[in-house]
Amino acid sequence: MTEITLHSPLDMHIHFRQDDMLKVVAPLSANHFAGGVIMPNLLPPVDNLDRLLWYTEEVRQACQPHAFDPYMTLFFRNYTFAELEAAKPHIIGIKLYPAGATTNSDGGVQEIMAMSAVFEAMQELDIPLLVHGETHGFVMDREAEFCEVYRALATKFPRLRITMEHITTEKAVGLLDEFENLRATVTPHHLILTLDDVAGGLLQPHLFCKPIAKRPEDREALLQAALRAHPKLMMGSDSAPHPRDKKECPGCAAGIFTAPILLPMLAELFERHGALANLQTFVSDTAQRLYRVTPPAKSVTLAKTTMTIPAQYGGVVPMWAGRELAWSVTSVQ
Ligand code: DOR
Ligand code: ZN
Repeated sequence: MTEITLHSPLDMHIHFRQDDMLKVVAPLSANHFAGGVIMPNLLPPVDNLDRLLWYTEEVRQACQPHAFDPYMTLFFRNYTFAELEAAKPHIIGIKLYPAGATTNSDGGVQEIMAMSAVFEAMQELDIPLLVHGETHGFVMDREAEFCEVYRALATKFPRLRITMEHITTEKAVGLLDEFENLRATVTPHHLILTLDDVAGGLLQPHLFCKPIAKRPEDREALLQAALRAHPKLMMGSDSAPHPRDKKECPGCAAGIFTAPILLPMLAELFERHGALANLQTFVSDTAQRLYRVTPPAKSVTLAKTTMTIPAQYGGVVPMWAGRELAWSVTSVQ
């Protein structure tokens, strides 16, 4: 039987939410992963130390009894140096959302380059900046347009470690090799989907996310970078659960829920392209190196045994519900 064992897989971009949703989704990630970067776009956002410590505790409780390190983030705003200094021991980075770019981001930043004092302070304190990189332009061009902002940030703050979150374009892949201080996460769904899968036939709400899936040549550039385990590209699922009635309705919420199927999906994809040997680097080693973290030891074995993706998990419909995957997780130790 074909098998692969992954050591301490990490998901470097996850939405855990809060309350009942947190209780449904957190154990699914905490079972298969040894750690993950937890997004702060709650309502209200996680943008002060009290709320951060409260949310960290909620997340830890929801992940029990699994060995899972939640790497917490703050929601970017005009923080003082003292606030940043106090938060630093409790966070892996600060997540910047342009105002209104996606779910719960109304309190995001209006004018990014006007925030230089905060970026200076983060650079000084060596706090990574995580960015949702989309402008308010035409939906297919938003990330490509935002590449100018990445360039400006990377040039003006050369010691600030900047993660381009969930990149979706060939252009963003190119930036990785141009700027030493830029790195990126990519989602498994953006390695697989193009806009055609979302809206080329009947509209697929469970494949709708921000940034929206792009063109075949974009997907190809992302896929090739992931398959060769590009040294600055990390797996970050952007698994973003919404209740079924918020997805299957007019005004469908953006977000694809992938947490429970990520590793089987990736094993299938990497095997199909003869790249299984690079999966460990993509799902853990690169993130450990770039973020200087040591997650708990966890061995996750997958075998080439089919699984049918459940129709829902506690009222949340996963990507590809009802479909078969060629691989499944057979043991977690
Ligand atoms: O599709 C998305 N959903 N993209 C994001 O950036 C946010 C996320 C969410 O929170 O639902
Ligand atoms: Zn996200």
